[in-house]
Formats: sequence, structure tokens, C-alpha cells
Amino acid sequence: MAELPKNDIADLALAQQGKTRIEWADWSMPVLRQIRDRFAVERPFEGAKIAACMHVTTETANLMRALAAGGAQLALCASNPLSTQDDTAAALVAEYGIPTFARNGVDRDGYYAHINAALDGAPHYVFDDGCDLVNTLHTTRTEVLPGIRGGCEETTTGVIRLRQMTKDGALRFPMVAVNDTDTKHMFDNRYGTGQSTLDAIFRATNTLLAGKTVVVAGYGYCGRGVSSRAKGLGANVIVTEIDPTKALDAAMDGFRVLPMIEAAAIGDVFITVTGNRDVLRREHFEAMKEGAIFANSGHFDIEIDIVALSELAVAGPRRVRHQTDEYVLADGRRLLLLAEGRLVNLGAAEGHPAAVMDMSFADQALTAEWLTKNWQSLAPGVHDVPVEIDKEVARLKLETMGLAIDVLTPAQEAYLNSWEHGS
Ligand SMILES: NC(=O)c1ccc[n+]([C@@H]2O[C@H](COP(=O)([O-])OP(=O)(O)OC[C@H]3O[C@@H](n4cnc5c(N)ncnc54)[C@H](O)[C@@H]3O)[C@@H](O)[C@H]2O)c1
Repeated sequence: MAELPKNDIADLALAQQGKTRIEWADWSMPVLRQIRDRFAVERPFEGAKIAACMHVTTETANLMRALAAGGAQLALCASNPLSTQDDTAAALVAEYGIPTFARNGVDRDGYYAHINAALDGAPHYVFDDGCDLVNTLHTTRTEVLPGIRGGCEETTTGVIRLRQMTKDGALRFPMVAVNDTDTKHMFDNRYGTGQSTLDAIFRATNTLLAGKTVVVAGYGYCGRGVSSRAKGLGANVIVTEIDPTKALDAAMDGFRVLPMIEAAAIGDVFITVTGNRDVLRREHFEAMKEGAIFANSGHFDIEIDIVALSELAVAGPRRVRHQTDEYVLADGRRLLLLAEGRLVNLGAAEGHPAAVMDMSFADQALTAEWLTKNWQSLAPGVHDVPVEIDKEVARLKLETMGLAIDVLTPAQEAYLNSWEHGS
């Protein structure tokens, strides 16, 4: 048997199971597969070292396979302690020869030890999901910084942190905001988070949503996806917001808009997707009904104030079902927190369906290829993905779905490029 690459994973014996699941996901990722086949011929990453900090799921494994086919030397660590699929990690190491540092349920020290292990290989490019790897590079691993040419960021929260770093003059290399492509956030954040967040709530609690009141905090792309899917299942959906335009959007989409303190007393199920902190806090827990369920699908585990919940509770947390912890308040009311307040769709389910990650990771793969050719002309800071990549991913996805669209006639094209015609 060939020597295994460097790794820190839970159980190598899970490799075959992981490979079967990675191949299953691959089946729903035809765009990424096409890119992988081209990369295998053109080898755009020959000689390049890439460190990726991402959710270690079957879909990410297929992104790693595409980059490896293109000649990249990879190191993968997890971007969340609960999202790692241990069988996927085992397969990456044993079946695909990719150095992987990820174990499900690892503590904070273990989480950062894995990020550091991925950086030990002195990468040229970084892939981040939430900005923890880039943050580590700029704080405790600055000796690795000079070799970094650039990177890609996958999620809204990471892009916000990177823009803040740029504003403070702290970011030392170009980062491309893959999250901001239309083919990422319009589909992954909306349909991916929408479906997988509810999937996670069902797997954890088996609750019936029809007829229940679901409170969604945040009406961005993720919140819109969660709200519309919950409505489709027969729930009465309340939206809470802090942005007047987003609140108006929710109201005109037919949702009831309330401040959280009012929604808290009515809701049966609460879902936070704001990217902000303390969205559910002490005064909200105090107002909640017996049996209220709450889950977070925003990036970090700070949207639900778990410290306040623990202080308020007289008993708990007690694990009562898969990723479901019961807290009991002084008057006997039971409140149910899912996935310890971490990204529920990755903690209690499998994350987004592969078919939607096909687009996000096609964006990642093509952006990484573009970065290898253009990094020298990019200043430190946050950059957009070229629109041609975004359109190409949409075009390829439509093609694989068997859908065709119209093309402009010459007269239409001329009309759209003119200003002379009026009423
Ligand atoms: N679960 C997943 O798999 C997944 C996938 C994509 C993104 N995300 C994460 O989900 C979060 C939201 O992403 P998005 O793309 O929808 O962002 P977004 O910026 O489009 O939307 C966030 C919304 O939350 C609102 N908000 C902020 N603070 C609030 C508060 N205290 N109460 C109510 N509303 C508040 C904002 O006004 C905004 O409309 C981010 O942390 C992102 O990284 C998670």
C-alpha cells in the first residue's frame, strides 16, 4: 500500500464508505466534473501549493479532486468543528492521497491545530470559508505570509471580515470573494441553506412544520431561502430584521415582520441566519414557549447567546436526540437548542445538496485557475470574481440541466447598445 499523506483524521477504516459517498455527490456535480476533466489535461496548478480551510464534506472532496487533477499540492483542514464528515476525511487521505486535518467534534485547540497543520506546508494559495485561516495567517503564522500569492473566500461572513481587514490596512494579499458571484450566493445561500437548514431541523427533531410558527432572523439570501421553504411546508413564517429594505422585502413577499422580542413569545421554531451576534438572547429565551426549538444557520456559533441560555437554565444541556440539547428553565419550560448553536445544516445534516455546491465549487475551481494567472497584478484586498467566470458557470449548469436560452438577434444587440430610440 502506498504511503499515506500527512493527516489527522478520526478513522481510516471509514475510507471506503467515504469514497462511495464522494462518488455519489460527484454524480450531481457535472459542472465541476467537466472542469476536473479539463484540469487533468491542462494541469493549471502544476507546482502550486494550496491550503484549504473548508467544511470537510463530500462536495468539498470533489473540489479537492478537481484541484488535485490540475496538479495542485493540497492540504485541507475543517472550517467548522462539527461539519467534518469523518468518512469523507478518511477517503481523502486513503483513496485520494490528499493531506487532511479534520475530525468531527474537535475542540477549539484541535480546530486551530488543524489550521496550523494545513499552513505548515507553506502554501501559495488559500481557500477559506469564514476567514479563520486568513486570520491565523495574519496573527500567529505571519512567517508563512510572504509566500502567499492570493486566495478565495467562500462565505458572506468571511467576505465581511476580509473587507474589514482591508479597511484596517491589515490584509496582506489579494482575496477573491467567491461568495459574491451570482452563481454562488443566489443559489447556494438561498436554495442550499434553505433546504438543508430545514433538513437538519427534521433530522434532529422530526418536528412537523405545517401549522407551526417559524421565526427566521435575517432576510438576506439565506433567510429568504429558509423562509420560503418553511412557508412551502405550511408554516406561518415571521421574519425579524434590522435593515428596513430587507424587512420591506420580507413584508412584500408575504411574511409577517416583527421585532424578535414580540416574535419570541409566538414562535415554535427559531432560525438565525444573520451573520451577527446575540440575535437570540436572554430576554428572548425568557419569553419563549414550552418546547421552542432554535437553530443557527449563520456562519459562527454566536447568533444564539448560549452562555445566557446556560445561566438562565436550571437544568441542561441534556442531549435528548441527535444534535438536540434540552435546557429547562426555572418554571419548568423546556427549550431545545440544535447543533450547539453551530451551523445547523452542517452539524445536524450533511450541508447543502451536491447539485447546488456544483456551482459554488465550479466558481472556486475556475477562480483559483484565474488567480494562478493573475495574482501578480492584484493588489492586497478583496477582489470580485470576473463576471465571465460567473456567466460561464451559469451557462455550464444550464447545459447540464438540458436547458437552452435565447440569443440576442443583431437588432436586439444593437438596440441594447444604443440610446437614440425613445418612445
Ligand atoms: N448555513 C450555511 O450553509 C450557510 C451558507 C451560506 C451563508 N451562510 C452564512 O449565513 C449568514 C447569512 O448569510 P447571507 O448570505 O444571507 O447574508 P446577508 O448579508 O445577505 O443577510 C444577512 C441579513 O441579516 C440581517 N441582520 C443582521 N443583524 C440582524 C439582527 N440582529 N436581527 C435580524 N436580522 C439581522 C441583515 O440586515 C441582512 O439582511 C452569514 O453568516 C453567512 O456566512 C451560511
